[in-house]
Amino acid sequence: MIEPDFVRTTRASYDTVAVNYAELLDGQLQNKPFDRAMLTAFADVVKAADGGPVAELGCGPGLITAHLHSLGLAIRGIDLSPKMVAVARQRHPELQFDEGSMLDLDLPDESLRGVLAWYSIIHTPPEQLPVMFAEFHRVLAPGGHLMIAFKVGDELRHLAQGYGHEISLDVYWLSPDRVAELASHTGMVEVGRLVRRADPDEKGPQGFFLARKPGKA
Ligand SMILES: C[S@@+](CC[C@H](N)C(=O)[O-])C[C@H]1O[C@@H](n2cnc3c(N)ncnc32)[C@H](O)[C@@H]1O
Repeated sequence: MIEPDFVRTTRASYDTVAVNYAELLDGQLQNKPFDRAMLTAFADVVKAADGGPVAELGCGPGLITAHLHSLGLAIRGIDLSPKMVAVARQRHPELQFDEGSMLDLDLPDESLRGVLAWYSIIHTPPEQLPVMFAEFHRVLAPGGHLMIAFKVGDELRHLAQGYGHEISLDVYWLSPDRVAELASHTGMVEVGRLVRRADPDEKGPQGFFLARKPGKA
């Protein structure tokens, strides 16, 4: 498969910022009670539906992966950026992290009980998102859950600087209805959603969306 430009630039940007990104985000979850509540809800519904393997797709340095592991999930991380994967492995040697793209996952059909995409769909052009959501649906077992975190809006913002470096990252802000539509087009059913206002370190409202793949767990 020929790799699209946006995948190459996203990987290169996160390779550049990996170490600083991890340092900057360290401990931030403690100041985000709504985000932690959604992660706890995700962990609880996955465990209630029989537990089983979970993946954080676009896991970056593994901060959220490790948090969900501490909540009792059997979770691994997958990310586009080899530098992010290296940082995640160094910080959390007890967990498994691998390189991979959410547009073409190297995972068997119906092999996961939970998929988490925490601010990782945000760099993908909207017209490519159906491919990504089809992958989420393919790798989830019936009864499995999908959790998405995203930036709420309807625009593209380009980042030429970030985490102390020159980068080139497109960030797509999405409406919660659009995220719900992407999931429902694959056959998944919405469980719940949350939109919260921006914290002082953020540029706009943040969205969280939970869906379930129908079928018996
Ligand atoms: C904003 S960071 C979020 C990292 C982590 N989920 C967190 O919240 O700390 C976005 C991450 O998604 C990854 N990513 C973006 N597009 C991806 C794709 N197509 N496949 C896999 N990972 C991707 C990037 O490499 C980056 O590490």
